[in-house]
Amino acid sequence: MSAILPLYPLENPMPKASADAPIGIFDSGIGGLSIAQEIANYLPNEHFVYYADTAHVPYGPRSDQNIRELTANAIEWLYRRGCKVAVVACNTASAFSLDYLREHYGENFPIIGLVPALKPAVLQSKSKVVAVLATPATFRGQLIKDVIQRFAEPSQVEVLNVTCLDLVPYVEDGLHNSPECKESLKRVLDPIVDKNADHLVLGCTHYPFLKSAIQSLYENQLTLVDSGSAVARQTARILLKNELISKTIAKDKTRLRCFVSGQNAKELEIVLKHLIQPEITWSIENIVDKLI
Ligand code: DGL
Repeated sequence: MSAILPLYPLENPMPKASADAPIGIFDSGIGGLSIAQEIANYLPNEHFVYYADTAHVPYGPRSDQNIRELTANAIEWLYRRGCKVAVVACNTASAFSLDYLREHYGENFPIIGLVPALKPAVLQSKSKVVAVLATPATFRGQLIKDVIQRFAEPSQVEVLNVTCLDLVPYVEDGLHNSPECKESLKRVLDPIVDKNADHLVLGCTHYPFLKSAIQSLYENQLTLVDSGSAVARQTARILLKNELISKTIAKDKTRLRCFVSGQNAKELEIVLKHLIQPEITWSIENIVDKLI
């Protein structure tokens, strides 16, 4: 790995967080809210601080180095805010950052990452053709290559890697059910259906918000698989191991506090009303104490 270590020597480490502290969740934008909600449903006594780097979304077309630096910055912000663990709820950021972050923070601040859920798709596929839809950067990273090598023996299953740069902006703009978005989906998914793929791995955390659009187009043809429930279980395991599971939560606590690095909290509030399930109390604000 090239020498980046952008940023912050751990000269003044934070005191070890208690079980009452929030879980930190990070994504380039609002896609990681698909993961936040899975974790919130699985762990009903937890509350969350969510960092959306809307000043720099999308990460997909960015360089490896730039993705690593932006991710390190966001995770440091969550750490300084007193979060007890951080979930990198972004396949693109995870692809370039997990090793560095884990080495940097050590046991004091556990880091949970994600990788496209290829394994269940391969196990369930009948046609033995599965497609992974992810950003170009995710496909450049080592994590996905390792997963393909481990779970997709080329003589047993064919894996089709597909990318589409339009999709993340549609989700960010609240246009995930628009005719334009469906057109983009058709452009990228028609060819994989023609090649007989029966499972589609949603390899970007923005894409679970496209499920209804995809299902309306390919109802009986594609089974959709994402990493949400696996990440929720992994988060629970890490919290248990570190004795950080919260036993109770105050009734009036806002469960999901969202912070955005761009100046667009007001506009996003309207989008989030359609993306966050009504049982989860939430708020959104612009970040004022940026580190860089
Ligand atoms: N949500 C992201 C992912 O899981 C990244 C999207 C982007 O910023 O390009 O890969």
